[in-house]
Amino acid sequence: MTASNSDIEKAADVLRAGGLVALPTETVYGLGADAENPAAVGRIFQVKGRPSNHPLIVHIGSAELLDDWVAEVSDTARLLAERFWPGPLTLVLPRGPRVPLEATGGLETVAVRVPAHPVARALLTAFGGGVTAPSANRFGSVSPTTADHVRTELGDAVDHVLDGGSCDVGVESTIVDVTGDTPSILRPGGVTREELEAALGRPLAVPGASPIRVPGQHPSHYAPRARVVLVEPGEVVAEAERAQDQGLRVGVFLPAALSGTPVKAHAVVEVPASAAAHARGLYGFLRELDEQGCDLIIASLPQEEGLGVAIANRLGRAAGPRPAGDDRS
Ligand code: TXA
Ligand code: MG
Repeated sequence: MTASNSDIEKAADVLRAGGLVALPTETVYGLGADAENPAAVGRIFQVKGRPSNHPLIVHIGSAELLDDWVAEVSDTARLLAERFWPGPLTLVLPRGPRVPLEATGGLETVAVRVPAHPVARALLTAFGGGVTAPSANRFGSVSPTTADHVRTELGDAVDHVLDGGSCDVGVESTIVDVTGDTPSILRPGGVTREELEAALGRPLAVPGASPIRVPGQHPSHYAPRARVVLVEPGEVVAEAERAQDQGLRVGVFLPAALSGTPVKAHAVVEVPASAAAHARGLYGFLRELDEQGCDLIIASLPQEEGLGVAIANRLGRAAGPRPAGDDRS
């Protein structure tokens, strides 16, 4: 099911009126508001339950509009924008005056991206302005990759949901800090380090080198209700059986190399062999195991190259220590 033109016009009106629109992007669904309306931006934080110092990404309709939103565009930023936009890349640059501090969590930098999904592009064209949009989930939980995920999680808190089918990429955009001399990846995502380095013809900074800390990158994020435990691929089956024997309802991410292996568990998801398919399915798999009532998910990390880096990052955070009082078990 994909949003019609009149649906898109209606969503643009909702944005103009200061409302919230859930929109499909090629990475995950976003919870969008008019980037230049501080009250509307404030509602995003309220609905998500997100601390107000966590900056948002401003989505714009094309690379040509970048100068309207940032104070300065380096040659490197220009090159990356031309090569990867529209697409799953977010650039962090000095904030332009059009961007309210509410959207940047008080920072003097702003994260900008041009999404590739046709419905997102149509909405940005119809609206004409910038749309701030975090992933359309409650703070800390799994990002939505279908319109149904959004409806289930946010319900009436969203004024309008645009349906654009399931997201192609399945993990969020790669965030690159291009404020300094050497660009640096702040969050791995849909565009790989290898692709960025090939485009630039030089290496990116080593991970963690950027002076910019990404607020919102808590150890526990992207987490389902079930506890996630990561083990070596060869130990997945034995670990699952052990926990199941202890009386837990165990969900298993069965590595592709073990496809077809019988596992004693409550629910089993066979991990696709290609990294692209693994990324595309990742959040849906986590939600599915939650829906099946699993207490525990046993998974292993993919090879940390290409898209595998983003998958490993999300699984690592899903398995991260949870804050006290977190009502997810
Ligand atoms: O694929 C995506 O990026 C999705 C879709 C909807 O576009 N959006 C998304 O937004 O993942 P969100 O809010 O869940 O994550 C945005 C990340 C946060 O980790 C935030 O800290 C970082 O971007 N960020 C935003 N502005 C920043 C800035 N000025 N400096 C450093 N990090 C920033
Ligand atoms: Mg998010």
